[in-house]
Amino acid sequence: MPMKHSNYSVIIVGSGIAGLYAAIKLAETVELPDGILLLTKSQLSESNSRYAQGGIVGVLPENKLDSVSLHVADTIKAGCGLSDFNVVKFISENSQHAIKDLMKYGVSFDKNDRNELNFTLEGAHSVRRILHVGGDATGYGIEKALVEKVKNDPHISQNVTIYEQTLAIDLLKDSNNNCRGLISFNNVTQEYEAIYAPVTVLATGGTGQVYKYTTNPSVTTGDGLALGIRAGAVTKDMEFIQFHPTALSIENSDSRFLISESVRGEGARLLNQNGEYFMSEHAQKDLAPRDVVARCIYSQLSKGNKVYLDASFIDSDKFKNRFPNIYKTCLENGIDIAHDNIPVAPAAHYCMGGIRTEINGKTSINNLYAIGEVACTSLHGANRLASNSLLECVVSAYELVNTVSKLDLKSSKIIDETVIGIIKKYTEADSDNFDDVDVIDLKSKLKNIMWNNVGIVRSEESLLTALSEINNISEIYNSKDKCNSIDEYELRNMLLVAKCITNAALKRKESIGAHFRADSSTGTQIHQTKDLSKDEDKIDDAKVTA
Ligand code: FAD
Ligand code: SIN
Repeated sequence: MPMKHSNYSVIIVGSGIAGLYAAIKLAETVELPDGILLLTKSQLSESNSRYAQGGIVGVLPENKLDSVSLHVADTIKAGCGLSDFNVVKFISENSQHAIKDLMKYGVSFDKNDRNELNFTLEGAHSVRRILHVGGDATGYGIEKALVEKVKNDPHISQNVTIYEQTLAIDLLKDSNNNCRGLISFNNVTQEYEAIYAPVTVLATGGTGQVYKYTTNPSVTTGDGLALGIRAGAVTKDMEFIQFHPTALSIENSDSRFLISESVRGEGARLLNQNGEYFMSEHAQKDLAPRDVVARCIYSQLSKGNKVYLDASFIDSDKFKNRFPNIYKTCLENGIDIAHDNIPVAPAAHYCMGGIRTEINGKTSINNLYAIGEVACTSLHGANRLASNSLLECVVSAYELVNTVSKLDLKSSKIIDETVIGIIKKYTEADSDNFDDVDVIDLKSKLKNIMWNNVGIVRSEESLLTALSEINNISEIYNSKDKCNSIDEYELRNMLLVAKCITNAALKRKESIGAHFRADSSTGTQIHQTKDLSKDEDKIDDAKVTA
């Protein structure tokens, strides 16, 4: 099979906020002899970013109640002391710049009657500091502005080639630990392409689809993380999966539409079917850190109770204006928030870990960068503070561009035997024949395994069960290199990511943040300041049993 070969100065994989912002900034500020390729698995606008509701942290001087030091303290406390102080401080200090830049690109943050920015509150924030767009459509608002810029700004569109419906499936890493580009697979034409570049950026988002219940869209199968792991990139903090406490839970439906934490920020409260406000005991009540609230709900559900959000504390007209999409989606599901409580349950939401990087996305592989949710800059520690992740996407993308602007971006087609070997796998080998294997069924089995054994509460026993069952699926689905469809490539990636999460969770024996071990000696939350995530303990969790 002949394969197309092409050259770019920079390849960006993924069109969420991290990828789009990086593409725009690069095109605006850096001389790029061979231009940028922005490739994305689905449509340009599809991503986790698009569905972000609550908002983005804005530590702004006009907010007299707020300061960098307060935001840093809140982030580190929510992360149970495992965040990197310098990273947190840097990202917080750059929040003002990030917000102003997004506004320059046409993002219109909500304002009050006096034309001042509206700040809202979410769990574990000590002050109102979260900016939003269209009430509960923050991600949509930011993504729309950035997509318009990429497509319609003549200078940007001239420099950025866009491939939609195209999956990055393998990195081209040579024998000297240099990334030389990647192999892509077009879902429509079924064609492979070898793409070379001096800089490759993974901006592929998180891993939510590895779990049965998730707030994440279907594209979020951990692809970039799996590509990085297969190429030998170091990962970090993969045991820390954030379960959002309040996703809409409708009987007989696996889908989990998010009910933003800012609904609680504006006054809604959690209760069970007996009318008990079970968060009352906690000092921060319904706005305790996300991991704490998720476990309290889990405990209610485990006792056979049902859990609801009581939004009657918010005036119903105000609710409609402030949360128009949530209001509409509830109504479509037969829930009128003016009269009804909203049934909720936790769902996998965010991956605190990822490919270990510096703030500018630099990974352990030369020329390979990772930004946004796929990366672990150590901002979030054991539990992400709400609305910090969109901010991290923008700040990391900005720093990436600064770094790339200092590199030599001339032609990159320096390939050795190792790279040729990777390309050959996709040109010569026939697709592995999975005719007798139901890939969709295996995906669903994997998601169940992860939900039941590597979820909100884990133990050594459940984690070992998961590992053995994941390995069973890996044996049935003995994927080699070339697959037949996106589903097959996704399953290959999901299996690797699931192993990585499970192995990391096995290694961390105590409960901390989002990682709760039912078999830990204390069995309770440890808030500590010592960093247990030293890199030497964390080298590639997936490799342990891969
Ligand atoms: P994404 O936005 O997920 O984009 C990843 C992109 O990569 C997508 O375009 C995808 O199609 C593409 N891709 C993936 N794999 C491949 C591949 N193999 N080849 C090609 N392309 C690929 N965070 C906040 O800070 N505030 C919020 O209010 C907030 N609300 C949220 C609400 C929901 C429902 C969800 C799901 C998340 C929310 N988050 C929020 C988290 C936040 O949205 C994400 O962490 C952030 O948007 C990640 O951005 P990203 O650019 O890294 O990745
Ligand atoms: C939400 O709106 O509750 C999600 C915010 C986030 O994940 O940061």
